[in-house]
Amino acid sequence: RTVYVNGEYLPEADAKISIFDRGFLMADGVYEVTSVLGGKLIDFEGHALRLQRSLSELDMVEPLGRDELLEIHRELVRLNAIEDGMIYLQVTRGSAGDRDFVFPDPETTRPTVVLFTQDKPGMADTPVAKVGIKVISIDDIRWGRRDIKTVQLLYPSMGKMMAKAAGADDAWMVEDGQVTEGTSNNAYIVKGNKIITRELSSDILHGITRAAVLRFAREAQMEVEERSFTIDEAKQADEAFVTSASTFVMPVVEIDGAKIGTGAPGTVAPRLREIYLDESR
Ligand code: PDD
Repeated sequence: RTVYVNGEYLPEADAKISIFDRGFLMADGVYEVTSVLGGKLIDFEGHALRLQRSLSELDMVEPLGRDELLEIHRELVRLNAIEDGMIYLQVTRGSAGDRDFVFPDPETTRPTVVLFTQDKPGMADTPVAKVGIKVISIDDIRWGRRDIKTVQLLYPSMGKMMAKAAGADDAWMVEDGQVTEGTSNNAYIVKGNKIITRELSSDILHGITRAAVLRFAREAQMEVEERSFTIDEAKQADEAFVTSASTFVMPVVEIDGAKIGTGAPGTVAPRLREIYLDESR
């Protein structure tokens, strides 16, 4: 695999980062995941804009312009012959050559930029989407700026492990009795003809897929309500689903062992998945 590190395209085995990189020592970095379908980047614009926002919220300098970023994404797709898959991008505050809590001087420290591809042939046609996934609920104990896409992913990672141990696929996180989001996706329920998902705030990541799916839903005359909901309400819903760059729209058929609706994907989530895939490809 060919990867990109700080201006160079290299075989992955030759890519090097300093052990003093603040991404490594302090999780002082942000990331984006953009999917590729049929060799085409999905929602690149949204991911580039959110990256810009994450960087600015953390007082990090933007290492590359939008056009350069797009060029690198395209070049990696080409070099690795990616039909379907993902591009992972990470920008860290870089290394000041020592460990220090204080941010290094942005004039003398350059951010570290890393991109690599993940090949996922046929990812849009995954059989999982036909049966849906099971989730458990866990406490949301993450920090208060979940709108910044930082690489602090230990708790989400632990959440996936808790789900796995419970025989489920993922976890929905709950704070003050309300669902915030999934470990790596936004969470939704459907009641009647209404799609309900938590409103945007610093409590959740502002999903790029979320924005697109809600726009398509409204265009298709579906009703959308942006508000928080409880696990109890979710268990009583007709359908549930999640969205993310890596899963698109994925039906959720069970929450904490309780079947949602019939326990099989309903009509709304599969329809949104189809619309999303059709419109973005
Ligand atoms: N995760 N919420 C969280 C906590 C996420 O980590 C993600 C994305 C989303 C969905 O955002 P988007 O639609 O922009 O992908 C919501 C990525 C895919 C990941 O960590 O792999």
